[in-house]
Amino acid sequence: MTWEELEKAAEQCAKCALCQTRTNLVFGVGVRDARVMFVGEGPGENEDLQGEPFVGRGGQLLDVMLTLIDLDRRKNVYIANIVKCRPPKNRDPLGTEQEACIGWLRAQMELIKPRIVVCLGRIAAQVLIKPDFKITQEHGKFFDVGGVQYTALYHPAALLRDPRKKPDTFVDLKALQARILELCPETYGRS
Ligand code: URA
Repeated sequence: MTWEELEKAAEQCAKCALCQTRTNLVFGVGVRDARVMFVGEGPGENEDLQGEPFVGRGGQLLDVMLTLIDLDRRKNVYIANIVKCRPPKNRDPLGTEQEACIGWLRAQMELIKPRIVVCLGRIAAQVLIKPDFKITQEHGKFFDVGGVQYTALYHPAALLRDPRKKPDTFVDLKALQARILELCPETYGRS
């Protein structure tokens, strides 16, 4: 399947009830041959209105975090979510909604073939790394899943709620930068 076919099919998705309340399906943003992919939980209000992941306050913080290690959503990473449609009142996506939606993310990963996947927050880490992932204990660690390196950072919304987590996230970002330089330096234009 091509990107165009995939995105068109996703736009018509009605596999769960979230399609009834969405304004826009939030497919993803970034470069389609990125070696590094970021995955959040699901769109919030701003993302639903604009059709792009991480465009609210949390998104602004994510952009700052990316800038700290020379990443940029328009230049060298791809950003998507576990669920593509906004859960009402920003509740966590239900297990059934995650199951209905995960195929779209898996198909995006098939096309991108990332070397490194960075989960943003507990929910993405539990879906993509392991069901009992503990974000407070395991953020910043790397896990090999089928030859792809997975790691998780605190979700930007969690950092806004509790800025005391920011120093840990800075350490995690620098470790991520080192792993990118090791595994896919082309991300930084040096191969
Ligand atoms: N939170 C997420 O997990 N994803 C978004 O796209 C926006 C906020």
